[in-house]
Amino acid sequence: MTLGIVAALHEEIADLLAEMAPGAHVEHIGMRDYHVGKLHGHDCVIVLARIGKVAAAATTAALIHRFDVREIVFTGVAGGLAHGLSVGDVVIADTLTQHDMDASPLFPRFEIPLLGRAAFDAEASLRDALAQAAREWLADEMAAQVSAALRTELRMSAPRVHVGQIASGDRFVSSAHEVTLLRGTLPQALAVEMEGAAVAQVCHEYGIPFAVMRTLSDAADDTAHVDFPRFLREVASHYSHGILRRFLCARSAPSN
Ligand code: ADE
Repeated sequence: MTLGIVAALHEEIADLLAEMAPGAHVEHIGMRDYHVGKLHGHDCVIVLARIGKVAAAATTAALIHRFDVREIVFTGVAGGLAHGLSVGDVVIADTLTQHDMDASPLFPRFEIPLLGRAAFDAEASLRDALAQAAREWLADEMAAQVSAALRTELRMSAPRVHVGQIASGDRFVSSAHEVTLLRGTLPQALAVEMEGAAVAQVCHEYGIPFAVMRTLSDAADDTAHVDFPRFLREVASHYSHGILRRFLCARSAPSN
């Protein structure tokens, strides 16, 4: 059973790619490199989708059609929306909504026209396994990967794992005003990013189980454009790599 691992930015999968077992090969389709190989004994395809919902949806469809993946995990960073969340926290989606979908008054706001739904649920066992892997990695390994000095600089106090709603849209959210608007319209949303709900829609349409894991790189506020690149450069890959390694190692080894 092949697992698709998708990210929007190279830094989010750099260490995973480096770790793919020798023998992996690359297939170039639709301007993307699909790395086909094994990670910790599991058949995987790792791909950089690039940024935004269209890029994520196109990549997800190719993973399903061309590589026959049976599960998809999206990994990357997000901006924090909910009060009380901090940079360095991990948000695992239980449901995802496209915050920029608005075909009202023809359809209710956020509803995907003709699909009849505004939210897509992550598959429960993938979601829970990722949350468990994230908790363990934060407790056991994070401090060794991200120096205390860097954590202080990035205001990463005591990173925690949250499970809840993620909002996705084709906009880098970078003002307190936008955060207030999103909190008003999607009060349950914990984090905002630019791909997850698009992956979720395609997986829903094809009946493919999926999960989305996001590390908070910024607070989606007026300093987001400063915090985001730094976090991406210095921290993001450690999180993705460490948590997905735990997630894969905890899965029963494939029988073939
Ligand atoms: N990904 C990381 N930070 C983000 C933000 N503030 N807005 C949208 N996507 C993001």
